[in-house]
Amino acid sequence: TARSDAHRPQFHFSPNAHWMNDPNGMVYYKGTYHLLFQYFPGDTKWGPMHWGHATSKDMVRWQEQPIALYPDSLGWIFSGSAVVDANNTSGFGKNGQVPLVAIFTHHNSKLEKLKSTKFQYQSIAYSLDEGKTWTKYKGNPVLANPGIVDFRDPKVRWFEPQKKWIMTLATKDRVTFYSSANLKNWKKESEFGRTIGAHGGVWECPDLFPLTHNGKQSWVLLVSINPGGPNGGSATQYFVGDFDGKQFKPYSTKTKWMDYGTDNYAGVTFANTGNRVVLMGWMSNWQYAQQVPTVVWRSANTVPRELGLTDVKGDLFLTSMPVKELNTLDEKPTTLTNLNVTGQYDLTAKIGRKHDTFKLSLSAPVNDFSLVLANDQGNELVIGYDKKDNAYYIDRTRSGKKDFEKGFAKRITAPRLSTDKTLSVTLLVDVASIELFADKGLNIMTSIFFPNQNLNKQFIKSATGTTIPTLTYSGLRSSLTS
Ligand code: FRU
Repeated sequence: TARSDAHRPQFHFSPNAHWMNDPNGMVYYKGTYHLLFQYFPGDTKWGPMHWGHATSKDMVRWQEQPIALYPDSLGWIFSGSAVVDANNTSGFGKNGQVPLVAIFTHHNSKLEKLKSTKFQYQSIAYSLDEGKTWTKYKGNPVLANPGIVDFRDPKVRWFEPQKKWIMTLATKDRVTFYSSANLKNWKKESEFGRTIGAHGGVWECPDLFPLTHNGKQSWVLLVSINPGGPNGGSATQYFVGDFDGKQFKPYSTKTKWMDYGTDNYAGVTFANTGNRVVLMGWMSNWQYAQQVPTVVWRSANTVPRELGLTDVKGDLFLTSMPVKELNTLDEKPTTLTNLNVTGQYDLTAKIGRKHDTFKLSLSAPVNDFSLVLANDQGNELVIGYDKKDNAYYIDRTRSGKKDFEKGFAKRITAPRLSTDKTLSVTLLVDVASIELFADKGLNIMTSIFFPNQNLNKQFIKSATGTTIPTLTYSGLRSSLTS
């Protein structure tokens, strides 16, 4: 990865070259995190899909590896997941080796052209060398298409109470659950969602996992949809409920969004991380992903985020916070107290150094305030809280290059969910992206931007005036290894 490419993220994963979309097959095994991803090595636009591969010891410093899965006679390799088959239920393990098994969608573009409705089906591959190389199963596909045009993105997990695998599959306008004893033979259990949730676009890339809140376990079902997101284009909704190995029952039918930003899509969680649930998403949006002005590669992922549940007025919501491993990139922090902001406060002058990669955390009373990222060319990205609307917002209307797509440059909002008397905000900025984690991860917003020159100066503003009791700022080091 060339550190100096224009807009190259310094602590988010991006492929060295060419096109990337969804994270796939995320699995932790023997001290290594594996990130596989939708990848087209032939162009910087979407095309015949492969699974690219990267590994990391800490989810922060990634090494790109050789391509893991290539298209074959059954089709291109679409999104899916990977599991550690510790009990060798698949029988792929030999001489006591534990197989890693990938479960993915084969997308048959020849059948698609022939107007078949059965051109997507599920297949598997296994690795006996800790994820280095993958062999496709000779019996593929393992789950045939019953005649549903959008039939893809299997996310598989072990369901311990009934000692079986559960596959959560996106099936057009709903999710379908399947179960299996051996990852090869799948039985339909139930469907969810045809009349619940947001349906502005096709359902894709689901995930189902348990989280515990106040000693009680609930199940979270993530469903990405494209288009139909709250701020346009693609986005991820979720449901919280119970899962009994057969059916998912939501506690509430209200539509909830994981991230109100425009640039967190197809996010799913790592397998085999114990009780810790960690998600990464694709930090882009189908509305403009193939037009964004990067040259040698396209797209990065969000930072890894640890997920949790929290209660707001009797309703359970998902929280996302950056994983603690990211703290290893912090430069020496500066803490400021009792900042009086009337008009504009020049943070960069106070810090005494310009940064285009940094972390900022603050707590503040519930008043208008904004942080402006700027450069000497007049580009600016504004992020803040608006008291009148009780909403967080990101405004990229003047953030630099924007003519590549007409909907890109706008102000987007997230209704504040928390009822806390204090706003608490953490921001991660990395050259061409900002991630807002507000109110302990209850409201998050992820946004990309493409300034003409890096935004390396920061100002705090408040039209009504505010006092910020504490603010901590630290530059972040690059995690790129070469
Ligand atoms: C989501 C998605 C998936 C599909 C993949 C193809 O972004 O459309 O549904 O498997 O991308 O690249």
